[in-house]
Amino acid sequence: MTLQMMLRRMNEMPEKGLPKSVILKELETKLQRDLTYSSGKILGSMCTEPHSLAKQIYLQYFEKNLGDPGLFPAAAELEQEAIRMLGLLLSNPNACGRIVSSGTEANILALWTARNRAKKERGEVIVPVSAHCSFDKACDLLNLKLIKVRLNRRFQMDVKAAEEAVTSKTVVMVGVAGTTGLGVVDPIHELSEIALAHNIYLHVDAAFGGFVLPFFEELGLDAPEFDFRLPGVCSITIDSHKMGLAPIPAGGILFKDASMTEAISMRVPYLAGGETEQFTVMGTRSGASSIAVWALLMHLGREGYKAVVEQCLKLTGKLVEGIQQIDGIDIVTQPTINVVGIKSNIVDARLVAKELRKRGWAVALFPGYIRIVVMPHVKLSHIESFLEDLGKVMKKLDG
Ligand SMILES: Cc1ncc(COP(=O)(O)O)c(C=O)c1O
Repeated sequence: MTLQMMLRRMNEMPEKGLPKSVILKELETKLQRDLTYSSGKILGSMCTEPHSLAKQIYLQYFEKNLGDPGLFPAAAELEQEAIRMLGLLLSNPNACGRIVSSGTEANILALWTARNRAKKERGEVIVPVSAHCSFDKACDLLNLKLIKVRLNRRFQMDVKAAEEAVTSKTVVMVGVAGTTGLGVVDPIHELSEIALAHNIYLHVDAAFGGFVLPFFEELGLDAPEFDFRLPGVCSITIDSHKMGLAPIPAGGILFKDASMTEAISMRVPYLAGGETEQFTVMGTRSGASSIAVWALLMHLGREGYKAVVEQCLKLTGKLVEGIQQIDGIDIVTQPTINVVGIKSNIVDARLVAKELRKRGWAVALFPGYIRIVVMPHVKLSHIESFLEDLGKVMKKLDG
């Protein structure tokens, strides 16, 4: 078979394997259409280019499986150390948790725990309408009823509506610290009080904000309360594969203490490393992810992460200033973190997103607005060139 013939058949499993060089070449060609973070064109994602140290570690340790900790006890210990560091970041050195596949899995684990602890038939879950769709998935999987409550004028969960939604069936209330659409932080302090008063589980989804908000105080910014300092908070989602600069998959779930996870722990008897207890959805789990999280926390330290957040917030400010100078568009609300909503007052946001995409910009579309996330891969030059294109797009659409 000629090379040409081989390549033509690259979408079928060949009878006889192809040389590595052919595979690598073909992949290079096939993957050319994918966007890259380094181009600066990805402006609507909560993921980013992983830190170079994490990439190196990932390659070096990719065979480690935390689903079988008896085989990899040292890797399992590093995961525990990473969890302890994340716990400290969220004001609780006794937190117990796991680096999991995603924020979605973390949220599922929280609701699963709350459901099993409450022992109620078809329990109810109270979330703000701004909550991530992982709660819809979790409720469907766990046979829970999702109750979505309205937002206040600042796009936060309306506290009064949240309290009114509590019934004898409520098993968990969820507050978001850095919403998916606008990066808003719900009034977690008040939610904590409601949770304590009604004896319900409070989960905080800080999948994105967990690596941003802990540095606000030191940066001299208004620091909303959201973590384990609040006594009602039972668990927190914090994803290292978002602002933590870790490679995917590195979601994270932290529980207040080890007793919480008893509700979902399962004995796995058959493993080569010996019997173990698991409280994750996944069985086999990437050890490289946890080791990379450990290494980044150690390497960057508080100072390093604070600098990343500071830079992202500085560029967010530049973006907002620029947007406010373009006719026909405005920000939805003053951003709390490095997530900005942009709305058009002349055309549908979908048209703006479409025109931007024609110019190579990948922004995220939400009902009525566009979301920009100023992630660590975004540089000042990218913001400037985006604003220039946005200005042209708005002129065209206005014309
Ligand atoms: C607030 C929030 N929670 C959870 C998730 C889900 O995370 P993942 O995509 O890692 O499942 C996201 C994703 O953007 C999010 O913004």
